[in-house]
Amino acid sequence: MKVLVGYATVHGSTAEVAQRIGNVLTQRGHNVTVADVKTLTHVDEYEGFVLGSAIEAGTWLPEFKAFLKAFDTQLGDKPIYLWVNCIRVLEEYGMSHVMDFYMVPDLLKKLNVRSRTAFAGKLDLQAVDWDERWSLAARYDGHAWPSNFDGDFRDWDKIDDWATAAANDLQAVVVKS
Ligand SMILES: Cc1cc2nc3c(=O)[nH]c(=O)nc-3n(C[C@H](O)[C@H](O)[C@H](O)COP(=O)(O)O)c2cc1C
Repeated sequence: MKVLVGYATVHGSTAEVAQRIGNVLTQRGHNVTVADVKTLTHVDEYEGFVLGSAIEAGTWLPEFKAFLKAFDTQLGDKPIYLWVNCIRVLEEYGMSHVMDFYMVPDLLKKLNVRSRTAFAGKLDLQAVDWDERWSLAARYDGHAWPSNFDGDFRDWDKIDDWATAAANDLQAVVVKS
């Protein structure tokens, strides 16, 4: 199946996750394009989508929202698998918090999202400028200080497992239709 792995990133760690997911899907026989959503001008050639955004200030990046708005007709009822990269998921009840508060239901309600998840991301405070630090300190909605999560928390096995499940589900969708 022709699949787009589209991502939105500020500091690059979500792009690396996208690349990893793309590799898993390719190994499973899909014809995969990995791309920053900012670069996309049309998506009608894809039959399935694996889409992911970094989280800043408790929500998806603006270009991720813009992508879903701009292409909602082309996405139609095609299968979508959605992930976010963040640090809140590392806290107690983090996954349910992310699902309840970091998703944007208005943008998802018309789409055929077959699976959604959150991965622990990477925060490198050395690479974060003062405006971003201010935003992180003021807007992070966890219980711990965000500076407690300065590091790379990506769990590549978890990412591989989720990508494998998405690859298998995509195959099943094709067989059914
Ligand atoms: C300015 C800033 C704000 C952030 N806000 C949040 C937040 O509200 N909730 C959260 O869980 N993670 C937050 N994070 C953590 C990022 O989601 C995490 O570091 C992610 O892996 C970054 O992805 P990227 O490298 O692709 O940009 C924030 C990070 C930065 C730099």
